[in-house]
Amino acid sequence: MNEWARVTGASLAGSVALITGSGRGLGRAIASRLADLGADVAVHDISETAPAQFGEEKSLTGLAERLAAQCGVRTTAVLGDIADEAQVAAMVAATEQALGPVSILINCAGGDIGAAGGKPDPNGGLDISLADTQAIINRNFIGTMLVCRAVLPGMAARQSGSVINFGSLNGHRAVTSEVVYGCMKAAIVHYTRCLALEMRPHGVRVNVVSPGPAMSARFLATRPTDPAMMGDGPSLDRYATPEEIAGVVAFLAGPDSRFVSGQVVRIDGAAGLYPA
Ligand SMILES: NC(=O)c1ccc[n+]([C@@H]2O[C@H](COP(=O)([O-])OP(=O)(O)OC[C@H]3O[C@@H](n4cnc5c(N)ncnc54)[C@H](O)[C@@H]3O)[C@@H](O)[C@H]2O)c1
Repeated sequence: MNEWARVTGASLAGSVALITGSGRGLGRAIASRLADLGADVAVHDISETAPAQFGEEKSLTGLAERLAAQCGVRTTAVLGDIADEAQVAAMVAATEQALGPVSILINCAGGDIGAAGGKPDPNGGLDISLADTQAIINRNFIGTMLVCRAVLPGMAARQSGSVINFGSLNGHRAVTSEVVYGCMKAAIVHYTRCLALEMRPHGVRVNVVSPGPAMSARFLATRPTDPAMMGDGPSLDRYATPEEIAGVVAFLAGPDSRFVSGQVVRIDGAAGLYPA
């Protein structure tokens, strides 16, 4: 257990967390943080090798084994395309068979990734291809919805659970690129509010985080970045670190936020308060 958990008592021991898209990037930092706080953790990705795409891990199984050894928690590695209902059912069943019922669900898988795997080009509201549009809808809104549909009924039956979905700063402001992606993140924000209301009588909390630009390896590898925005100094005029996203998610996952539901937490250093 880390120092923060020891001092604050914010332990997640006894929890079972499924974090989609946690082989790399922000999800990987979240899996690491939750395991550090004592949660048993299911890491998930679309393939065993997706975590290696930008050099963060050799394999999903390797990540699960490392977290178990480092944090002394139970872990498992599950695979599945979140846009495929049968694969989602299988990955949730595999998680629950290995670790028990899911009490924390983090829907982190997603991104502005088109049909061919990279960023759509063109990527505006009128010129993006239909294939890229459908891929982004599936990877973000449909995927988040399918995983919620597979996990939340069990949480409702058990009268407890914490769900954290992933929006984006681009879901809150008008943009001229990443338009479809921004629309789907806005849809996830509103879906979260509706689910929070639906789950309220059942004691299940549903919140959404909306990061601004954050230094996942894919973020750094797939666009021009500003060196002046790197680092983690006191200025808020910079990119977020993955650990800064993970800290907010850990708060929403755990007992310190037990009366918080239906909320949107923008993790953007107030960038979204100003015109883009
Ligand atoms: N990095 C940022 O600047 C930023 C900003 C705002 C929001 N976000 C959101 O945060 C989340 C994580 O982003 P990241 O930067 O860590 O990206 P990333 O590409 O490193 O991580 C996304 C993960 O989701 C997985 N994934 C993608 N499509 C999938 C599918 N159909 N089925 C299963 N797994 C799938 C990927 O393989 C990967 O492991 C995404 O939802 C993204 O939209 C990121």
